[in-house]
Amino acid sequence: MLGSGAREHALVLSLLRDPSVTSVSCAPGNAGTAEVAAAHPVDPADPGAVVALVERLRPGLVVVGPEAPLVAGVADAVRRTGVPCFGPGPEAAQLEGSKTFAKLVMAEADVPTAASASFDDADAAVAHLATVPAPYVVKADGLAAGKGVHVGSDLAVAQAFARDALSGGGRVLVEDFLDGPEVSLFALSDGQTVVPLLPAQDHKRVGDGDTGPNTGGMGAYAPLPWLPDGLVDDVLARVLQPVVDRMHERGTPFAGLLYAGLALTSRGPQVVEFNARFGDPETQVVLALLESSLADLLLAAATGRLAEQPAPRWRDGAAVTVVVAAEGYPAAPVTGAPLAVGRLPEGVQVLHAGTRREGGAVVASGGRVVSVTAVGDDLAAARAAAYDGIAAVDLPGGHWRTDIGLRAAEGGITPPPVSLG
Ligand code: GLY
Repeated sequence: MLGSGAREHALVLSLLRDPSVTSVSCAPGNAGTAEVAAAHPVDPADPGAVVALVERLRPGLVVVGPEAPLVAGVADAVRRTGVPCFGPGPEAAQLEGSKTFAKLVMAEADVPTAASASFDDADAAVAHLATVPAPYVVKADGLAAGKGVHVGSDLAVAQAFARDALSGGGRVLVEDFLDGPEVSLFALSDGQTVVPLLPAQDHKRVGDGDTGPNTGGMGAYAPLPWLPDGLVDDVLARVLQPVVDRMHERGTPFAGLLYAGLALTSRGPQVVEFNARFGDPETQVVLALLESSLADLLLAAATGRLAEQPAPRWRDGAAVTVVVAAEGYPAAPVTGAPLAVGRLPEGVQVLHAGTRREGGAVVASGGRVVSVTAVGDDLAAARAAAYDGIAAVDLPGGHWRTDIGLRAAEGGITPPPVSLG
């Protein structure tokens, strides 16, 4: 397993549930994964270092968690050793690595998405922003670890973001704002067959009621009780399969996890962005509900045999995850605070993200520190269990949202009626 977040901790625990998985190793992992998987201090985005590790361990499968190693070509480098690898090659990973490339592929595949204009000149981007209505959406083209997107109604702030993003070169996209609730839909692909997983919803702003700055994600829940019937089949037919088909036709097949970030607008589902890997924190809730073998699914995707796999099975009920972040996150996370986890209620897991061992203690080493994940018979029960779990977590200065999944549990989310006229 390459990576060190709560997503990777969830993937490791899920893989280990399969009796055929005898062991998992992580590069580099965190204090949580180290309790169940051997830790190797290797940079997951360094193809040479990863290949050396893979040659030494000769695992049955390598799973790439984050985007940076994918864009750096680590998955292809692993495949060249003869070891199967779950994750797309660098060209296909450009669906996440370059928003301009993603728009091009969506145009070629006739996939619904926001209209956009692409700029490499700051004056041109600033002038264009002055001609479009608020709210303004400005996206830096490359990987930016969750900091590459600005959405807001203040023109001067949007223009400053565009200037800043272009100060070192590169491109920005200025997009139409997509109104409507957001959905994260993950799909496994082996380059041709596409298998959607359970839709989830992330909470990206740091504060309750979707206030404050954007983060990597402060919590998630699944499934989505408010989702229109047939939405997953519709997105499979209009978004996921056409993109995978188009990447295959281009000669750069997408095999791995295609994550469609969607907005359910009055014009139907529209793509906000693609990612080329499992999302965090949505993975924690999707995997908490997966009954099928994750190892079988990932190995089948990595070896072109997804069509032979039975459809994934899901347990009834719901899952909620609540992220506990370090003091100062997201602007300036304070690291080094000691983390203590008391007795957890039944059905609750604490998945580690930014943690490391220091002597006998576990301390915060990143902005998102742990992701407290719970299942329940319904969303209200899963929420209650997750917040009971939070009460067992002690992180001085730590903060979390108190409203993960709340609007959905109260019936407060309604996608707009679709009018294509
Ligand atoms: N949940 C947002 C992301 O993984 O990018």
